[in-house]
Amino acid sequence: MLESGPEMSLVCLTDFQAHAREHLSKSTRDFIEGGADDSVTRDDNIAAFKRIRLRPRYLRDVSEVDTRTTIQGEEISAPICIAPTGFHCLVWPDGEMSTARAAQAAGICYITSTFASCSLEDIVIAAPEGLRWFQLYVHPDLQLNKQLIQRVESLGFKALVITLDTPVCGNRRHDIRNQLRRNLTLTDLQSPKKGNSIPYFQMTPISTSLCWNDLSWFQSITRLPIILKGILTKEDAELAVKHNVQGIIVSNHGGRQLDEVLASIDALTEVVAAVKGKIEVYLDGGVRTGNDVLKALALGARCIFLGRPILWGLAYKGEHGVKEVLNILTNEFHTSMALTGCRSVAEINRNLIQFSRL
Ligand code: FNR
Repeated sequence: MLESGPEMSLVCLTDFQAHAREHLSKSTRDFIEGGADDSVTRDDNIAAFKRIRLRPRYLRDVSEVDTRTTIQGEEISAPICIAPTGFHCLVWPDGEMSTARAAQAAGICYITSTFASCSLEDIVIAAPEGLRWFQLYVHPDLQLNKQLIQRVESLGFKALVITLDTPVCGNRRHDIRNQLRRNLTLTDLQSPKKGNSIPYFQMTPISTSLCWNDLSWFQSITRLPIILKGILTKEDAELAVKHNVQGIIVSNHGGRQLDEVLASIDALTEVVAAVKGKIEVYLDGGVRTGNDVLKALALGARCIFLGRPILWGLAYKGEHGVKEVLNILTNEFHTSMALTGCRSVAEINRNLIQFSRL
């Protein structure tokens, strides 16, 4: 939770990061910022965007720039949405309810995590009109997944995002040092409604045996589109298409799972090439500026999702902090579009990109 301080002006997403670093408790800060092992991939997610250069086009009348697009047929105000992250009550009392309100106000999609600290019902009541997808960590007991998916479907979530890159938990040294499993319990995680908080040590276990062939079972129990989160290779992208899922999120879990995998933006190109336009491809990991969003779209992502920056916004001022983060990034993206000569999202293409030799 934040201490109150003098009003200050935060003008870019990393300003929110600096603010959160100063104001959150050490164990919460480490939990949010942490990467796996040496954090090579966490840092490369950011650095890889900076290795890409832009090729702007001019004299194109950018007096009107439209950032709107669609994902799975639903309109969003900009291709900037919210990735699933757990335990929002760690950083703000209303937790995911505030996040959901901000997403609804911004007109973008919020992927709610299996490890949300507020109940799904409370999240939906907080922002009934918002576009929401649900992120599933597959439980070893398939029947429990079925109950949860049916609940999610009846609550109006529009897609099921299955996270693939966590058959086991990555090795996060800070969390081990901070004994997070023991400490991240009822004292830190105060959900607004008593009984909703989930002690870390009681968290739902995640299946270690999930296979491609299990996907048809999920398809048989839900009408929701299925999006696979965590794909980094053309081989898995081809399998995703073959198994008739509706989308892929290219992601390395913010560098929190297997370290030393490709940065998300570096993996995007081969995944986009492999799916051949048959399904939508999205990206998360390291997106911090409007130029990053533009680069991801130019390389074939339909939209991007933000992980840590949403938590920084939430830590700053709850719903208003998240709105500010989304607003700043959307404005930056609008500027990036205008400065490269793109009037609509459809005009963003591969010709805008030059891979630098830096
Ligand atoms: C995550 N991420 C994550 N992913 C997921 O599928 N389910 C989850 O519950 C969580 N929880 C979670 C907590 C925290 C604190 C972080 C930082 C990340 C991963 C997340 O969805 C996303 O892949 C990355 O955070 C994107 O990278 P950036 O934007 O944080 O660089």
